[in-house]
Amino acid sequence: MGYERLGPSKASGSVTTTTAAPVPNLSKDSTSAQPENVNRRRKKLVVSSIVVAFALILAAAIFAGIRTQVKSSQHVPGLARKPSQAISKACELTRFPELCVDSLMDFPGSLAASSAKDLIHVTVNMTLHHFSHALYSSSSFSFLDMPPRVRSAYESCIELLDDSVDALSRALSSVVSVSGGQTKPQDVMTWLSSALTNQDTCAEGFDGVGDGGVKDQMTAALKNLSELVSNCLAIFAASADSDGNDFAGVPIQNRRRLLKVGGGDEKLTFPRWTRRRERELLEMPVSQIQADIIVSQDGNGTCKTISEAIKKAPQYSTRRTIIYVKAGR
Ligand SMILES: *[C@@H]1O[C@H](CO)[C@@H](O)[C@H](O)[C@H]1NC(C)=O
Ligand SMILES: *[C@@H]1O[C@H](CO)[C@@H](O)[C@H](O)[C@H]1NC(C)=O
Ligand SMILES: *[C@@H]1O[C@H](CO)[C@@H](O)[C@H](O)[C@H]1NC(C)=O
Repeated sequence: MGYERLGPSKASGSVTTTTAAPVPNLSKDSTSAQPENVNRRRKKLVVSSIVVAFALILAAAIFAGIRTQVKSSQHVPGLARKPSQAISKACELTRFPELCVDSLMDFPGSLAASSAKDLIHVTVNMTLHHFSHALYSSSSFSFLDMPPRVRSAYESCIELLDDSVDALSRALSSVVSVSGGQTKPQDVMTWLSSALTNQDTCAEGFDGVGDGGVKDQMTAALKNLSELVSNCLAIFAASADSDGNDFAGVPIQNRRRLLKVGGGDEKLTFPRWTRRRERELLEMPVSQIQADIIVSQDGNGTCKTISEAIKKAPQYSTRRTIIYVKAGR
């Protein structure tokens, strides 16, 4: 009885457990299968939207990159600073347009200039300021210990830099008086060209001089100076051109091309603004040239330094003053 009572109760209990057990299991399986699918779909959705967002960000970044690239190729220096039309137009004519825009934007009064003619004055003044600053900062290296050859290169560089400051001051006062009709545009070209030549000579002085320290400091101090003068020449030539002067071959701007085109034709190896007489003079053997001023360190010449000679040269001469610099050492 106890067994009978226990039996069915046990059996029923076992039945209920055996029948009941799979049911919840089944129902658990069937109900949990559906949310898992939804989850997977949600996950897929999330993943794909992340991919889309990432692609959008990437596209935006690429677009921004292209935009800044386009901007920098148009030589726009900063977002807040926008060059005036006169600056953009004038700088387009130069060989270093980016430096032209940047250097002018940093200089007071450049935005007020409304034409290339107004700008030439500002450009020469700005270039003069850069040269003066370079002279000032490179003069401070003089206390450095230098081997004799470096010292010699350094000192001629300082002297040439001094001459360039002088030449640019003259160019600036000539630019001012050109508009007043007192000086010839050729004089301005001459002063500007001499600043450029001095600059090249100075840099060449350090060629083959081993010492890195002074050479590197000097190179850093003289950075962009030639380029600034070249830009002055280009802008001045263009503005003088518009007055009917023949500066068609903007000298320094196209220097490399002029030399290449020159090839066999001697005449083409000179800048076009040199006149026939000057070309002939430049082609003459040195022994046939009668120099006005002779620079010689041994005291045999008219004066001992190049800067002395330049100071000696007459201010408003109607012809070229010939300065012969004797080989030194
Ligand atoms: C000189 O040129 C360098 C690039 O070569 C530029 O970063 C620098 O700003 C220039 N200096 C001036 C005064 O424009
Ligand atoms: C050149 O620039 C300086 C500084 O901006 C200014 O004081 C000076 O008057 C300018 N010189 C000429 C001749 O414009
Ligand atoms: C000047 O030059 C001549 C020959 O060229 C030379 O003999 C003479 O010593 C020189 N004079 C001086 C002061 O160096």
